[in-house]
Amino acid sequence: MGFMSVLSFAHKLTAERLQQGGRAIDATVGTGADTLFLAKAAGPRGGVYGFDIQPAALSLAEERLRLAREEAPAALSPVTLLLHSHAAMAETVPQDWCGTVSAVMFNLGYLPAGDADKTIITEPEGTLAALEAALALLRPGGIITAVLYPGHDGGDREAAAVMAWAAELPSGKAQSIVYRQLQRSTAPYVIAVEKKKGADL
Ligand SMILES: C[S@@+](CC[C@H](N)C(=O)[O-])C[C@H]1O[C@@H](n2cnc3c(N)ncnc32)[C@H](O)[C@@H]1O
Repeated sequence: MGFMSVLSFAHKLTAERLQQGGRAIDATVGTGADTLFLAKAAGPRGGVYGFDIQPAALSLAEERLRLAREEAPAALSPVTLLLHSHAAMAETVPQDWCGTVSAVMFNLGYLPAGDADKTIITEPEGTLAALEAALALLRPGGIITAVLYPGHDGGDREAAAVMAWAAELPSGKAQSIVYRQLQRSTAPYVIAVEKKKGADL
């Protein structure tokens, strides 16, 4: 049967914590697959913000959301897509979202589209700033998932930085886990961080 893929695992952890009416953030919109997943889970009373630095990514995501809205007009939450680095998350997401967000998804690396420039990748410094901002935005019991790609140039350094960040979080404030195939060191893997109830972050 095999284990669940890393993307399915990230979705499962998120779906367990993001209910209809909830708030969520896609930190790396890309083609919008995760954005659409979040918008469905949050539903029409919820809300989603999405970040990407490439206009091409936001166009792909807008088209994906448009098609989904055509099929089921009332099924998705409002989605605000921003052409901004996720490093600006703390200043960009409305102040009143602080401490209320159920899920923040990161899917790091490059835009997985045929003609995309694969040298445009997420960078450790911005990613770590965004992870810190995401943790502050989470509600107690909310979750951050990060899909990491140690197999491409730069991805290994970023994965190590995210692992170190998650491992060093005080356990009274957040719990962090890793989901990883152990026999293939270059295979993508997931880190998830759940904010503890009562944590003062
Ligand atoms: C692996 S893709 C995301 C895949 C996406 N979740 C999907 O469902 O298709 C990574 C994305 O991160 C974007 N990215 C790179 N640096 C970024 C940054 N500083 N802030 C936000 N997005 C960034 C890239 O442009 C790319 O589209």
